[in-house]
Amino acid sequence: MIKSFKTIPFFCVLFFGITNCSKNIYRKNIQPDKIVSLKNNFKNNFYVGAAINENQIFEKEIGSNSIIKKEFNTISPENSLKWMFIHPKPNTFNFNVADKYVDFGIKNKMHIVGHTLVWHAQLADFMNKVTERSVMMNHMQNHIKKVVTRYKGKINTWDVVNEALNEDGTLRESIFLKILGNTYVEDAFKLAEKADPNANLAYNDYNLCKPKKREGALRLVRQLKQNGAKVNEVGIQAHWQLNSPSIKNIEESIIAFSKLGVKVMFTELDISVLPNPWELVGAEVNQNFEKFEGDEKMNPYTTSLPETVKNKLAKRYQDIFKLFLKHEDKISRVTFWGVTDKDSWLNDWPIKGRRNYPLLFDRKNQPKKAYHSILDLKSVSK
Ligand code: XIL
Repeated sequence: MIKSFKTIPFFCVLFFGITNCSKNIYRKNIQPDKIVSLKNNFKNNFYVGAAINENQIFEKEIGSNSIIKKEFNTISPENSLKWMFIHPKPNTFNFNVADKYVDFGIKNKMHIVGHTLVWHAQLADFMNKVTERSVMMNHMQNHIKKVVTRYKGKINTWDVVNEALNEDGTLRESIFLKILGNTYVEDAFKLAEKADPNANLAYNDYNLCKPKKREGALRLVRQLKQNGAKVNEVGIQAHWQLNSPSIKNIEESIIAFSKLGVKVMFTELDISVLPNPWELVGAEVNQNFEKFEGDEKMNPYTTSLPETVKNKLAKRYQDIFKLFLKHEDKISRVTFWGVTDKDSWLNDWPIKGRRNYPLLFDRKNQPKKAYHSILDLKSVSK
């Protein structure tokens, strides 16, 4: 019992002293930037992130959601901002999931990526039926204005145009090219800039480490800039294999794009360990991959990945990140296309129903050898 008022301050001091002191100790133990994680390891070099799916946006996956919060400081929406989902009909916008995605990023203080505004794939059906230039231009203007304005100041980087190039570096015969002509890429960038002048704007594509396609992308970006479009970054998707592309080809691309005055991002990194049907049957891309479904030769690791392949994957990731660190001044972000092997789109592409192992976390949400091989690399201080 407290006998006099003099003792009250004493108890107060003791009480607050203990609670504050324990808070300090607590804080010390969990200081977020001291935790060993990808985002902390590379915090002086580039953002590290992952594409997240709808379950993760709605925080329904406790395991992978805790990985996302611990390891990454940037997120990309795997599907949720694609045209077919957010703008399915000319006057219908559906922002439910996209809003949640952006809230998730803000809540976790992440660099938020918008993927993607103009892409021939996962486009709304009504767009594929347009035959008149003015109609399509209206739809594109409406789409970019509505979506970019909604997330103005919240989405930090937009993949404005995705996959506009053929393998030989010429413009792909997409519905946009057919109906709008070859100025559509420039128009898209200008519309995005108008809607949010402060957002980073990017051109994003795959196979940008292959010399011919790289040349095409360099030409495209150079021309966009010459014509007054704002292009801040080039996204190299990085859906790669164990042996390709070569480190040399990746390095050449980093240097070449950087010389144009844009930052380089690796936006969709994953490394397939499974046989690639194209290797087996030549270079003809327009094949029917259904014939490989259920083919055991194409799906060799149905129970687990052999140690030898785990080691190859770890070494491959280490070599790639070593290169990223060497050029960290030119690279703004590295994003994995998915969080765990369970989530990866490569379990169903290009052949459905396979078991692939392309990411850093396994199906039980545990870090793999590849994760440790990357963390073992020392970050370079700026
Ligand atoms: C993929 C998603 O991961 C899949 O879930 C979806 O079925 C198809 O699209 N390049 C891109 C990404 O720019 O948007 C694609 O994402 C993978 C290839």
